Amino acid sequence: MEISCPQAATFELEPWRDLNGMIVMVTGASSGLGWELCMNLAKSGCRIIASARRTDRLKVLCDKINNMDVQENEGEARNHQVLAVAVELDVSADGPTIKESVGKAWEVFGRIDVLINNAGITGPIPNPLDLSEEDWDKVFKTNIKGSWLVAKYVCLQMRAFNHYFVLVNQAGSVINISSITGLQRTYSHGSLAYASSKSSLNTLTKVMAMELGKNKIRVNSICPGLFNSEITAGLMQKKGIEKVVSKVFPLREIGTIDPALTSLVRYLIHGSSYYVTGNIFIVDAGYSLLGVPLYSSL
Ligand SMILES: NC(=O)c1ccc[n+]([C@@H]2O[C@H](COP(=O)([O-])OP(=O)(O)OC[C@H]3O[C@@H](n4cnc5c(N)ncnc54)[C@H](OP(=O)(O)O)[C@@H]3O)[C@@H](O)[C@H]2O)c1
Repeated sequence: MEISCPQAATFELEPWRDLNGMIVMVTGASSGLGWELCMNLAKSGCRIIASARRTDRLKVLCDKINNMDVQENEGEARNHQVLAVAVELDVSADGPTIKESVGKAWEVFGRIDVLINNAGITGPIPNPLDLSEEDWDKVFKTNIKGSWLVAKYVCLQMRAFNHYFVLVNQAGSVINISSITGLQRTYSHGSLAYASSKSSLNTLTKVMAMELGKNKIRVNSICPGLFNSEITAGLMQKKGIEKVVSKVFPLREIGTIDPALTSLVRYLIHGSSYYVTGNIFIVDAGYSLLGVPLYSSL
C-alpha cells in the first residue's frame, strides 16, 4: 500500500531541500515518526539533537546519522562533523528536570533553531467510563504538559539568544506533532484522553504562536493521519486495512513518512515559511474529511 512520491524530481525546485546548518531538536526520536524525521533532516544538512527515554535506540540512530555516507547527504557535504547527538529526556518529568535536559540539549551545538515536539502516547483506549485517572494523567502529562514544558524551556533560550543576535530574522520554529484526532473532524472509540490532549495541543500551538510572534518564534502544528510506527503497528496489521484505505481515503493510499510528512516539516523549518505561524496542517491523504473513524484512537 505504501507508495513512493511520483513527483520526487520536482523536489529539486524546493529551497527547503537544503537546510544546511539548522539545528533541530526532536523529541520522541527513538522510533516511528521521530526517528524518520531525524534521518531525513540530517540528510538535508540539519544537525540533530535526538531525545527520548530509550537512549540505547537514540545511540543507534545517532551512529547511523554520524556514519552516513556523504552521497546520502543532500545538504552540503560536511565530512567528519558530528551531525547527531542523543539527549535523554522524559517529557512527562517535572519542570526542573525538563529544564535541565533542555539546557543540556542547547549546549550540544550552542543553540537550537527548531524544536519538533513529537513525543506522544495513545495510552489505553477504553470507554470514558472505564478510563482510569492515572491513564488520563499519563496521556496528558506526555502529550500536552510535556510539549508545553519542553517548548517553554527551549523558547526561553531562543528568546534570550535572539536578544543578543538581533539581526537574525527568525529566532525559532516550534513544530508540534498533533493528530487528526485533535481536530473537530473525526473521533474514534476509546480516544477520550488522546483526542482531548491533541486538541489541547492545537490550542497550545495557536496561543503560543500569538504570544511568541513578537519574539520571531513561529509555532505550528502538524496533524498526521495514518503512518507506519510503533503506535499504529496493531492497526496496520488489521485484516482488510488496505481495502479500507483504497475505498475510504480520498487519495487512496497510506503515504510514507518520507516524503509525505518530511516535506512539510522541511518547509516549516526553512526561512521560506517565515510568515507562517499558528497553523494546524493536516497531512492525512484527505481521510479526516469524511469523518469516518478507522479502528484505533489515532
Ligand atoms: N503514526 C501515526 O500514524 C500518527 C498519527 C497521528 C499522530 N501521531 C503522533 O506522532 C507522534 C509520534 O508517534 P509515532 O507514531 O512515531 O509513535 P511511536 O513509534 O510510538 O513513537 C513515540 C515516541 O514518543 C516517545 N515518547 C513517549 N513517551 C515519552 C516520554 N514520556 N518522554 C519522551 N519521549 C516519549 C517514544 O520514545 P521513548 O519510549 O524512547 O521515550 C517514541 O520515540 C505522537 O505524538 C503521535 O501522537 C502519529
